[in-house]
Amino acid sequence: MRGLIAGALGLMLVGTTGAPVMAQTPKKVNVAHRGASGYAPEHTLAAYRLAIEQGADFVEQDLAVTKDGVLVCLHDASLERTTDVETKFPTRFSEIKIEGRTRKAWLANDFTLAEIKTLDAGSWFDPKFAGERVPTFDEAVALIRGKAGLYPELKTPEIYEGRNVDFVALVEAALDRLKLRGPAADPKTPVILQTFGESTARALAARKIGVPVVFLFDVRGPFDAAAMVASWKGVITGFGPAKQVLTRAPEFVKLAHAAGMTVTPYTFRAAATPSYANVTAEMEHFLYTLGVDALFTDNPDKFPRR
Ligand code: G3P
Ligand code: CA
Repeated sequence: MRGLIAGALGLMLVGTTGAPVMAQTPKKVNVAHRGASGYAPEHTLAAYRLAIEQGADFVEQDLAVTKDGVLVCLHDASLERTTDVETKFPTRFSEIKIEGRTRKAWLANDFTLAEIKTLDAGSWFDPKFAGERVPTFDEAVALIRGKAGLYPELKTPEIYEGRNVDFVALVEAALDRLKLRGPAADPKTPVILQTFGESTARALAARKIGVPVVFLFDVRGPFDAAAMVASWKGVITGFGPAKQVLTRAPEFVKLAHAAGMTVTPYTFRAAATPSYANVTAEMEHFLYTLGVDALFTDNPDKFPRR
């Protein structure tokens, strides 16, 4: 049976596989990337609050899992870039190897929620945000519920696969506990899941997660847009390409739409708009010339509505 679900991105068709398929919609969707992260420290309640004030349709959360199994909002797998973890827990690092170089990393998965809650997640951005904390997903939902949609990303899933943490199951449990899917879900708080993990995206689809799933990707070498679309058709609801992919292969948008999938490129920021007068002009081009459905921006206040 095919059914209809009213969604913030328009009408989604639920196909015979159970995977929702979203049709193209004229409403363009403003996704606040890590909150209004151009103006406030990413993934803090201050950044999420500001994103809502600036008119974001959705607020993004990158998710990590603490040592005691709690979903928290954090972009990096480790805590040192955006908190004072090095000062508070100087010896609690791991040595990790990235691109042939070894460095110290304070992995979020090595810390309990109670430990993470002692960290200052605001001062690195600006002293006026001192005392901001790493929010749990539950806290983010409590703030955003009824005011905007949620756009959680299952970040660096490969870390958890190696540690016997079932990231997908934790997200499923959160969606149920917080009434974010199913008949009891609040239509004012739509949820779209996203991930760069190919096997994770396929696992979300296979488990019929009940909310749209977006596969994120970037391309370094040759790119076959048609093959990419074909390999995900009927599995996911949309793609989240790096914006450079669409500059290289603008035909990807039409191909994805023809297959019933949305396109939501990342990331549009006032701090970096090569080739455009400003970030609004850049977003205009992607939304209204290339025809993308939505985009991730650090500057939701600069999103061009028509
Ligand atoms: O999830 C969309 C965009 O946020 C992907 O990049 O690294 O900021 O998570 P990143
Ligand atoms: Ca993200």
